[in-house]
Amino acid sequence: MIRYAIVGRTALLLGAAVLAAMAAAQTDSAAQSPAKSVYAELAKVPAKAAARRNPLESDNEAVAAGAKLFEQHCAECHGANADGGKKGPSLRAPDVQQATPGTLFWLLTNGVVRKGMPVWSRLPEPQRWQLVRYIKSLGPSQAPPKQ
Ligand code: HEC
Repeated sequence: MIRYAIVGRTALLLGAAVLAAMAAAQTDSAAQSPAKSVYAELAKVPAKAAARRNPLESDNEAVAAGAKLFEQHCAECHGANADGGKKGPSLRAPDVQQATPGTLFWLLTNGVVRKGMPVWSRLPEPQRWQLVRYIKSLGPSQAPPKQ
């Protein structure tokens, strides 16, 4: 009896592993599709993470603090005004501006390393939320985005 239970369980685990591998393969091929927008990663953020609220939503100093962090860590790729640089896309684009705070926080935490967007989990959480406040404060650019 016990032996059957163990065999059954192993089969289940194997099945789950195969399914996971198939899912991973599918995600990979989708990511390589050339027609994808540079902002496609935002749509892949798990719903639960996307729904997280910014704990600094009513902190009056968060935007200024985020601007400073942006200058230190992000401007070299995304441009001093966040409207796009040589290495990174504009963050004033509607896809970014319409993303929820939780979505942007998740993206900062996890990065999109294979596409050149670094992981920022070494910045303390409050700093990541400050950056989110700063990005959301920008609104769409007057000038058309450079990328
Ligand atoms: C080394 C260059 C580099 C730095 C530094 C960098 N980024 Fe990025 N970032 C990128 C690239 C490249 C992408 C586009 C990735 C993609 O194709 O999905 C990106 C994408 C993004 C996106 C859009 C999400 C998406 O769909 O890809 C956000 C938001 C973002 N970065 C925020 C930041 C913030 C905030 C910082 C500073 C903490 C930062 N980035 C630092 C290169 C950089």
